[in-house]
Amino acid sequence: MTEATQRKTSLSPRVCSAIDRWLTRYPADQKRSGVMQALMFAQEENGGWLTTSLMDAVADYLDMPRIAVYEIVSFYTLYNIHPVGRHVIYVCTNISCMLNGSDRILSHFKKRLEIDCNETTIDGKFTLRETECLAACTAAPMCQINKKYYENLTTEKVDAILAELE
Ligand code: FES
Repeated sequence: MTEATQRKTSLSPRVCSAIDRWLTRYPADQKRSGVMQALMFAQEENGGWLTTSLMDAVADYLDMPRIAVYEIVSFYTLYNIHPVGRHVIYVCTNISCMLNGSDRILSHFKKRLEIDCNETTIDGKFTLRETECLAACTAAPMCQINKKYYENLTTEKVDAILAELE
């Protein structure tokens, strides 16, 4: 347990341990370098989203300004500040995907799930998000669901993917 863990924190022991292990990759005086993964650990344990108190706890744990953590969380789409469904679907609509039919794919997700972007299905299963380039342009159109990429999408593939997800 690090000195920081021994101080009072609202992060769980499991998250603190995961962060401590991750921080071994960085010089001791550069703890803030691990902030993105630390936020991911906290988010995953909290069911996929970050509360303000969790963000504050991560900032305090890494001895960095809370505002810097808020800036990171509000910049990257991989962090959520509201409750999300079990599966978060990120449909890329950036240039390569757009030229290869991402509008059709996004519309199909909306129609199948009966929700708009940034909404969650009533059963809490899916949240739909639109996102910028996910660096898989050669397989456009594509989407990310949780941590997995689905590429060269068609409406038929979307149907098959949704049928597979519990
Ligand atoms: S434009 Fe969609 S992955 Fe790059």
